This record gives sequence, structure tokens and C-alpha cells, in this order.
Amino acid sequence: MKNFTSVHDINNLDELVKQALELKSNPHAYKHLGQNKTIGLIFLNPSLRTRLSTQIAASNLGMSVIVMNMDKEGWALETGDGVVMNGTTVEHIREAAAVMGEYCDIIGVRAFPKLVDKEEDYSEDFFNKFIKYANVPIVSLESATLHPLQSLADVITITEERASNPKFANGRKPKVVLTWAPHIKAIPQAVANSCAEWMNVADVDFVITHPVGYELDTKFTGNATITNNQDEALKDADFVYVKNWSTYTEYGKVICNDPSWMLTNEKLKITNDAQVMHCLPVRRGVELSDEILDGPKSLVLKQANNRTWAAQAVIKQMLEGLVK
Ligand code: CP
Repeated sequence: MKNFTSVHDINNLDELVKQALELKSNPHAYKHLGQNKTIGLIFLNPSLRTRLSTQIAASNLGMSVIVMNMDKEGWALETGDGVVMNGTTVEHIREAAAVMGEYCDIIGVRAFPKLVDKEEDYSEDFFNKFIKYANVPIVSLESATLHPLQSLADVITITEERASNPKFANGRKPKVVLTWAPHIKAIPQAVANSCAEWMNVADVDFVITHPVGYELDTKFTGNATITNNQDEALKDADFVYVKNWSTYTEYGKVICNDPSWMLTNEKLKITNDAQVMHCLPVRRGVELSDEILDGPKSLVLKQANNRTWAAQAVIKQMLEGLVK
């Protein structure tokens, strides 16, 4: 695997999930692979799970880990080509990415969208330039439009639950519902886009539900069933993935804050005894009810745990492909 920025960078999802679960049961089996290799984790935005789980994953593989909060500790980066840098930006991404590539064998990058200019965000200009100039494999730690390590962890979580729950003993495909949830701020579409992209590849029946106006880019939703009726979507659901996103069409806006979209135990009664997922961080009482987060149906901590094995499976494949 040269880079990991979307589901399209992997060869076989089932194999990758199997590898992640093997690593989960034996985290240090490939400690030799990363010996004398360095991963740099570059954050332009805050993180708890991605930062810690990727650090642990790389460490389990024997790598040295450098973490840099680029937004606070680095020079202000310019990404425009041909710009005369007589303003606030101090270093061009051409040099910055290339220099990091000199120090690191693999680089992980987190760079959120600005949610101002849809074309700019959806072009993934920052990530594409980073890949071009760093000249080493790049792992997305969440880009403007996608969060593939989160989605891989989510597929791993569903796979584990499916294997251990008797209701799937007959080989029935789980029904997974991605439901929009209220939020007070404009949040990127990355987790929702990525969830759609990966669930469309996974062996599940996938449904998306959101208020009118919150349609996602069809490039990611593909053939998913989409409805504005949350109750209809929740019927017979086995997994409900709760996530807010700001509007894609009226780009970056919050046009609905209807609290009735927040998932509650009452709403879960419509489902087929569904388990509830969220990537975290979550705003309690806004996006998701306390009763669900604190109750037996919540998978949020299992998802967070599986972030390590998702990252480790991806970094392992990259290390195996390194020729340096
Ligand atoms: N889910 C997730 O990516 O969490 P962090 O933003 O804390 O890394």
C-alpha cells in the first residue's frame, strides 16, 4: 500500500479486517517490521483517538514515532502555487512536506476542511500536495473529505459484533443505518462520507437518513438507500451510526438543529435491537443521549479501541511495501 487516503487504496477489505483482528490478538508479532523506521504524525487540528491509537499502533510495530502539532508548533504553511509569500504564511508545503519526507519513512497527516470553499475542500489540494512533495507513504489521519482509519475501525467493530451475536448466525447481512444528528457547530462531512464509502464496500445493507438539505456527495453515497424519514430508516436496523455533518449543498452551513433527530432509547425500539456507533468526540444531550452512551447498546469504546488495530494493519502493509 503506497498511500492510505480512502477505501480505494486497499486491495481487499476482508483481508485487511482479518489482519487487524490478528494484530489485536497478538499486537507485538511484527515488532521487527518497523525497527529503525520512523513515522511522523502531523496534526493541523486537534485529536485524541487518532493521535494516541496511531502512536500505539506504530510503536507496536517497532517504529519510532514523532508527533507534531503543526498548527501550533510549525510555521504557517502556504499551499498556493506561484504565491509571493509576503503575507502571513512562512513556509511552502513544497519544502515542508519534502523535509518531513527526509526525516520519516511514513507520514500521517490530519488536515480538516475550512468549510468555506467546497471546491477547494473537495479537491483535497492539501493532501494531494503533501503526497506529491513528501515522497514517502502518507496515511490519512482525516482529510477535508474522508476519515478512512475511522471507517476501517468501524468495519472491524461490526465484523466482531456480527461474529459474536447469534442473530447473525444464519449468515444474514446486518442492516447499518447512518443517521444525521443535531449539533451546535458546522462539522465536516468527512466521517459521514467515509462511512458511506466503506459501508458500500462492506458486506452490509446500508441506509442513510438525514433532514432535507443534508444530502452528501453522491461520489461517496453511491447506491446507498437514502431517506429523510428517520423512523423508516431505523426499522429493522442492526447498527445505528450516529453522526452530525454540516450541509454539502449549502456548503458548510447548519440549516437544521431539530432535536428530535437525536437518538434515544425510545427510538431504538423501532430497530432490531440495534447497537449504536459514534466516532467520538460526541456532544452528550445534543448529538446522542446519555442513556444510550451509558447503556448496553453503545459500541463507542469498542470503536475507539479498534482504531489501534485499524492503524496497525494499515501501517504494517505500508512497512511491508517500503523499499528505501
Ligand atoms: N474519532 C476521531 O478521529 O477522534 P479524534 O478526533 O479525537 O482523533
